[in-house]
Amino acid sequence: MDLRSLDNVDPEDIGSNPSTEPTVGELIDRRLGRRAALRGLAGVGALAALGNELMGSSALAQPAGPSSLTFEEVPHGLDKTHHVPAGYEAQVMIRWGDPVVAGAPAFDPANQTGAAQEKQFGYNCDFIGIHPLPAGSTTNDRFLMVVNHEYTAPGLMFSGLGSGRSVNHQVTEEQAKVEIAAHGGTVIEIARDGSGWKVVPDSKFARRITGTTPMTISGPAAGHDKLKTSADPTGRSVLGMLNNCAGGSTPWGTWLTCEENFNFYFGGSDVAKLPDAASYKRYGINKSAYAWSRYVDRFNIDKEPNEPNRFGWVVEIDPYDPAATPIKRTALGRFKHEGCTYTLAKDGRVVFYSGDDERFDYLYKFVTAKPWNRQDPAANRDLLDEGTLFVARFVDAGKVEWLPLVQGQGPLTAENGFATQADVVINARLAADQLKATPMDRPEDVETNPVNGRTYVMLTNNTRRTEQQVNFANPIARNAHGHVIEITPKDGDHAAAEGTWSIFIVGGKPGIDPAARYHRQTSDNGWLSCVDNCTFDSKGRIWIATDGAPTAAGIADGLYGADTAGYGRGLTRCFFQAPTGAEVCGPLITPDDGTVFLAIQHPGEDAGSTYDKPSTRWPDFKDNMPPRPSVIAITKKGGGTIGS
Ligand code: FEO
Ligand code: CA
Ligand code: CA
Repeated sequence: MDLRSLDNVDPEDIGSNPSTEPTVGELIDRRLGRRAALRGLAGVGALAALGNELMGSSALAQPAGPSSLTFEEVPHGLDKTHHVPAGYEAQVMIRWGDPVVAGAPAFDPANQTGAAQEKQFGYNCDFIGIHPLPAGSTTNDRFLMVVNHEYTAPGLMFSGLGSGRSVNHQVTEEQAKVEIAAHGGTVIEIARDGSGWKVVPDSKFARRITGTTPMTISGPAAGHDKLKTSADPTGRSVLGMLNNCAGGSTPWGTWLTCEENFNFYFGGSDVAKLPDAASYKRYGINKSAYAWSRYVDRFNIDKEPNEPNRFGWVVEIDPYDPAATPIKRTALGRFKHEGCTYTLAKDGRVVFYSGDDERFDYLYKFVTAKPWNRQDPAANRDLLDEGTLFVARFVDAGKVEWLPLVQGQGPLTAENGFATQADVVINARLAADQLKATPMDRPEDVETNPVNGRTYVMLTNNTRRTEQQVNFANPIARNAHGHVIEITPKDGDHAAAEGTWSIFIVGGKPGIDPAARYHRQTSDNGWLSCVDNCTFDSKGRIWIATDGAPTAAGIADGLYGADTAGYGRGLTRCFFQAPTGAEVCGPLITPDDGTVFLAIQHPGEDAGSTYDKPSTRWPDFKDNMPPRPSVIAITKKGGGTIGS
């Protein structure tokens, strides 16, 4: 989520971890001094791994150099449309309002209704997943594509609202219905032929999931008193999912879609007076960014104080069965899940990594109790209900420990408010505070490289971190451009309770931002800011999408590729430039490396930009069309490997 967009909420207010978990920063400052701490960043982290290739040196504009990625870099810039390298083409696959399910009306933005929106592609596409058709096949041409819809921006969706802090609260009841229906997710069938990718119309798999789709709650918190509402006295069923940002999948073929900034949807009076005030405060449930609570009682905390406890989960959905009820898997903990991606432990158990995207919040992993059963799909059905949730503590310059969030262990006792495992998962943040986890610089995507087995953590930024709050893994005060940490699990086993780590790159412009660290041959176009989502191609090269590029300096968000091994390691190169106002989400590359799919989220979301006078009308560029968040497919003209 681009928090700039929540213009009725001060984005500087989102951090809600009061923990000053004393950081090694104090020790570093005392023993080594600030300058040495930053040298330490390079010395023990990336630099050690890279030899002398990675330096915060002045950028040298030149061709690919030692990189295996030989495409012609897109020059840094900012304008109304998108840009791909010479020899590549981008195709818009599906836009906000395009029909998804059979019978969906054509998009009529001036007369949009909730009923229409429930059948059309939602707003602000983020995560993209693909699942082969038929299931289990090795196709590169036919998939189910699953897409998250993170949030809505009424000022760009509806005429006459204008821009500014208050417009989200000015929507009509019907417009609120459109917004609720524009959240959630979409399943479409896509196929490739000689002319490119197409969305298969009226596919039997097509589905919209919205803010009102009935869902089941499973795992330790299911049925807990804190999940019960007047509409659901069982605490086991809930309507909808909200603010689904990034996501993931499972080895057994399901889609994981993650509720991130769920706290922004609940209005009402002073939450400090409610019984669970400490929990509300820790999760930032104190002001609504939307008008929904005026029209829908369950979004009003005064009427339904437990409703927020039913959001903030990882949701598992079977994309192959449009009738399948989505399941909120509470064993994975409740926090602002950016995404949830898997890799396998040595013994076949499945390990899911997930970041809690807030300043000073934590990095988690969940290890299933049982291995994935390749032979018997039914045996995996509820694998996500049983396992252990861990939180990361970066104990020194090079070592990370994974601390179990298990009721009864350590400080997670009834005396401390954790009487059952349900208490632990519902208040996972508070439990992690007790374990003295390491407060991070907004953990976004966390993904494991299928080639080298290392896990990459996107830390987008944290301008609030002071010099006294730096720690080994977050060594930059006022971290405006973010960094990427690379974790190697002990003995190559992702179920291990510890691992080693280093810093892969640090964002910012070399020569201008003192902390910036890349391969020394990174060009003037290849530096980046505010890493958000990432993916890997079959060669293990990383592709990083950004959210928060310095637009004041005339630089748009984009997609950058880099080697993770060899002489080109850490040499980021700019592959894609987004239209103004947009961030780049959901990067995903087909198994044959022939296509990269991107979700272009919130195009036109610039200061002062409105439905009536948008900063861009991407991608249609028609006078009666607002900017439309869209999924695009980028291929090489004539075919071939992305990036080469
Ligand atoms: Fe929705 Fe963490 O970005
Ligand atoms: Ca984002
Ligand atoms: Ca994100």
